Amino acid sequence: MKFALLSGLVIACLASIGNASAANDLASFHSKNQGGCTACHITPGKVSDDSETHINQQCKSCHGGYEELKDAKLEIDPHNSHLGDINCTSCHKGHEQSKVYCNECHSFDLKIPFNDAKKKAAWDAKWDQEKIQQAIAKGPVETTEVVVVGAGSAGYNAAIAAKQAGAKVILFEKAPFSGGNSMLAAGGMNAVGTPQQKAHHVEDKVQWFVEDTMKGGRYANDPKLVDILAQRSAEGVKWLESLGVNMDDLKRSGGARVDRTHRPADGRSAGPTIIQTLRKAAAKFDVETRLNSRVEKLVLNDDRQIVGVVVHAKYSGYYMVAAKSVVLTTGGYGYNKEMIAYYRPTFKDMTSSNNITATGDGITLAKEIGASMTDIDWIQAHPTVGMDSRILISETVRGVGAIMVNAKGQRFISELTTRDRASDAILKQPGKFAWLVFDNQLYKKAKMVRGYDHLGMLKKADTIDGLAKLTNMDTQLLQGTVTNYNQYQQSGDDKAFHREDMPLNLTQPPYYAVKVAPGIHHTMGGVAIDTKAEVLDLQSWPIKGLFAAGEVTGGVHGYNRLGGNAIADTVVFGKIAGESAAANAQQK
Ligand code: FUM
Repeated sequence: MKFALLSGLVIACLASIGNASAANDLASFHSKNQGGCTACHITPGKVSDDSETHINQQCKSCHGGYEELKDAKLEIDPHNSHLGDINCTSCHKGHEQSKVYCNECHSFDLKIPFNDAKKKAAWDAKWDQEKIQQAIAKGPVETTEVVVVGAGSAGYNAAIAAKQAGAKVILFEKAPFSGGNSMLAAGGMNAVGTPQQKAHHVEDKVQWFVEDTMKGGRYANDPKLVDILAQRSAEGVKWLESLGVNMDDLKRSGGARVDRTHRPADGRSAGPTIIQTLRKAAAKFDVETRLNSRVEKLVLNDDRQIVGVVVHAKYSGYYMVAAKSVVLTTGGYGYNKEMIAYYRPTFKDMTSSNNITATGDGITLAKEIGASMTDIDWIQAHPTVGMDSRILISETVRGVGAIMVNAKGQRFISELTTRDRASDAILKQPGKFAWLVFDNQLYKKAKMVRGYDHLGMLKKADTIDGLAKLTNMDTQLLQGTVTNYNQYQQSGDDKAFHREDMPLNLTQPPYYAVKVAPGIHHTMGGVAIDTKAEVLDLQSWPIKGLFAAGEVTGGVHGYNRLGGNAIADTVVFGKIAGESAAANAQQK
């Protein structure tokens, strides 16, 4: 696949580097050409705030923001990606090798200036227990009411809710950008009883949402948490809308009996849209967000109540913040190979759709102080991760109408079954992979498919025979599969696998196929919580002052999460956790 090269900025920089022969990193280049250290830093004495706010403002004041940097000529433009407007310094490093952050998941041939500079050891490479203890011994250097740990959807929702409840809040994020796994979420948010369902004439009930979620989770879910998820889901959509997110489109996700997954109407992926709006909302509500700041210890007093956290920050080092309430929203451990190998050895070599930030920090923090864990070893493999890649092919593609066939071209399960069953079924097929097959109707309807095409992931042919040849499937078998499926679709009765919803047939060329295999997607288990999002100890008593929401928790999804329930979890329980944390902090 051909990738266009560089934006104007990059070309300009590279040209200048040629002139500045001594410069081998961005800092030396700017220092030589833009008048010293103050080109980036506030004063040479104060290197930076931990979020690198000033440095990033300086980048933008010279080069423009993401909007200005978008380059229409580029086929793949990192300044126009689904990550949104993240810190310039996430990729462009001053004193070390720059790197294209996109390539943590993709493998784009994108050039970035100064990617031949020296690599430096990461500032947060290890948790230094001695320095943590020194920070505790020194005592808090500042006081707040609520600390939120991790700036994904759950974290933002918790922080905004706590702030709206009148609390003083600091939101800490270890990465140089916010968003976590939520930023990568493609599907949408499950909710019942919304105006959107009414407008689409979808009949749904809280009880159905509960039943579908429990069945999907193999009845291992905590029913009290599932009840809250369902009952407060419509309020969650309304809340997101009040913050500026459009959720007007509806689709069906695997395991749901009706269309209840709410998505942006413009066809954009739900996660990036939600995160970009939450980032703006947090700024609007003056939620103080500190990036490059990893919380490495929860501090308890002798009564085992939370009294603060120790933060390890990129420039400030180790320091303690006093707080009566802490909310853990650190996400799951789907990108922590050691934890995966420990909890589910059979998944240890599997690819992961997760953000590199999903390393289970919250679980480590909570375990250290005696929190109870629920279903900690239950990990979900998503059935359709692009084969040999980290790119999720959203369940939406099957929901909108794609069929799934094996290497020979035969269907082998209902495409709308739950993820655990679909993944198990794929792993039993020859080669342990499958193809999603669809036609031009779906290509036109599901905008995200054009993204996969853009990434070179799709095989395309004008006939089913041609597609079979391109993909090494058996021509007759694939042809038979498509003919049968089209008949089932017309009669509304999938005689082979009882697929419930068949919105499209496969009759309009060109035809497409994308090769997929299961990849780690969601860690269902985690910190045990109650209905107020309070974290429970080993005797199931709340740990005073500690709350948690989102993928760091266990219990909501049982042994298997349904598509669309992750965002619902982060919004509903994120908000509850923020409100509970504020109420606790403000108690006299
Ligand atoms: O397949 C998907 O779109 C994923 C959605 C989810 O994890 O909820």
